[in-house]
Amino acid sequence: MAKKKTDSDRVFERRLARHHDELRWLYMELYDNGDMFAELCAQMKRYYEMRSDRLKKLDAEREADKEWYRRRDMVGMMMYIDNFAGTIQGVQEKLPYLEQCNVDYIHLMPFLDSPKGRSDGGYAVADFRKVKPELGTMEDLAVLAEQCHDRGISLCMDFVMNHTSEDHEWAVKARQGDGEYMSRYFFYADPAIPREYERTVPQVFPATAPGNFTYLPELGHYVMTTFYPYQWDLNYRNPRVFNEMMYNFLYLADQGMDIIRIDAVPYIWKELGTNCRNLPQVHTIVRMMRMIGEIVCPGIVLLGEVVMEPDKVAPYFGTVEKPECHMLYNVTTMATTWHTVAVKDVRLLRKQMDIVCALPKEYTFLNYLRCHDDIGWGLDYAALKTWGMEEVPHKRYLNDYFRGNIPGSVSRGELYNEDFVTGDARFCATTASMCGVESAGFEQDEQKMDRAVEKDIMLHAYMFTQSGIPMLYSGDEVGQVNDYTYKEDPDKAPDSRYIHRGRFQWELAERIRDKKSVQGRIFHALRHLEEIRRREPVFDADAEVCTKDYSDRAILWVIRREAGEELHAVFNFSDEAKTIWMPEIAEYTDLLTGKTAQTETVKLPGWGFFWMKKRKTERS
Ligand code: GLC
Repeated sequence: MAKKKTDSDRVFERRLARHHDELRWLYMELYDNGDMFAELCAQMKRYYEMRSDRLKKLDAEREADKEWYRRRDMVGMMMYIDNFAGTIQGVQEKLPYLEQCNVDYIHLMPFLDSPKGRSDGGYAVADFRKVKPELGTMEDLAVLAEQCHDRGISLCMDFVMNHTSEDHEWAVKARQGDGEYMSRYFFYADPAIPREYERTVPQVFPATAPGNFTYLPELGHYVMTTFYPYQWDLNYRNPRVFNEMMYNFLYLADQGMDIIRIDAVPYIWKELGTNCRNLPQVHTIVRMMRMIGEIVCPGIVLLGEVVMEPDKVAPYFGTVEKPECHMLYNVTTMATTWHTVAVKDVRLLRKQMDIVCALPKEYTFLNYLRCHDDIGWGLDYAALKTWGMEEVPHKRYLNDYFRGNIPGSVSRGELYNEDFVTGDARFCATTASMCGVESAGFEQDEQKMDRAVEKDIMLHAYMFTQSGIPMLYSGDEVGQVNDYTYKEDPDKAPDSRYIHRGRFQWELAERIRDKKSVQGRIFHALRHLEEIRRREPVFDADAEVCTKDYSDRAILWVIRREAGEELHAVFNFSDEAKTIWMPEIAEYTDLLTGKTAQTETVKLPGWGFFWMKKRKTERS
């Protein structure tokens, strides 16, 4: 006898029906395999059925409120579980602290099982369904997700889909010469093919992991390893890989995740003779993933990690009719911000912000100053050239500047993956160290410390002014500086990114009670800014935003308009005090002090800023 259809079946069928034809079309285009497609559909139903009623309820709410993740009260924080609280249960205990930080979106850095010493900070996953034992269990994660939901906090995790660890069971079997599993990776006995690839594929880690292949002597084969030699690239030409990875995605979604960060997404399709980045099939796969998510778990948001130049980033949003990622990192703006700190000239930043502001408002960016990775100096060198700045010497200048090797620089940090062939290098440090908190502390110079704290706060205010979701890096809320202890750990020493992946210093968090301490000043200033952002409609994701021309190149002027109100957000990217002339003599409310007055000029200290809101006029 046929089973009676439940309401829940109908919900699934409705969602499947909405996407079925397009999904099947794309799947057949890529794989031409009807059986595997049928299996995918059956598994989607299975993962839907395994989803808890609570999550299904949340899905329904979010389907009705598709903008839920774009609200102006969203503030994210990314953190390593072990650094922050030891274990997942530790994070559960620290939720009140995160609430105190106004954070309602937590990105837990990779926590799935990965081999010690060969983990790339957890980005070499050995088992997609197991938490690292020292951090806890999947049950702990599901409990944390529930507790977060009770508090209105969303949880984000990485889905590392480009590669697995060499310890993943597929890789283990492949290494034993099992053809079925070898076909899930890129194996070549003949060195000619890897050599052919190397001609066109750039290197991600030229110094710490040169080349894109690793030779396995026991097998007499080369395996493709774009990142570290222990991270084996998955072969998405094989539908078994796609299907299984989608099941892993749905499994993790069912643990209560709200946001899935698709790690290194531009790399997931490879083609001989290309640079193996951003190929059209990548977009087909992401589009399929979006539809699979909307069918099984529509409450989920996809965050794409696309660390590329702007014209490569925006296509990952897809189109309004056929969307791909919900959110992307605003990576070029981040790098351009630090360039601006070094050169004290906002022209490039304005150009970059204007590009972002001209994109459709539906595109949601994740804005940040620092994250767990290095800063790659991916700037618009064509524009810089017209202003007399050449790429190679300019990158060298930035790296010298931020290491504190240029007179007047207060920044401290280290190079990352210095390529002795091209002379290229990236940079690592915490926000506070780059702003001068570390050097001022070392020199015990109070005046310098004041300046560093102001710079740190100003940069956060500027980040909060951008449309999208502000993402703090754990420790930045208390001005945590570089941690050099990674050099004592042989597993970490070769990778300078660990300089900004230090243990969270709870002693610093204790000091926030003293509002005059460095930590207290940064912490409370950030909180204040977040609260203003929450309250004021001018910070809406859909506000009209533009930059304004101003006579002084060190001044960045951003205008946001919404609901008849106008915000003038002005930032001084220089050490000198400035007098700012408002565009018209009018009544402005200083959002920081709440005072309203007739204003013609405003005095800004070095690295100072203001948020002035023009009151509604009769006409507006
Ligand atoms: C992403 C991560 C980075 C990692 C790489 C390889 O870029 O952010 O930390 O090394 O992917 O998985």
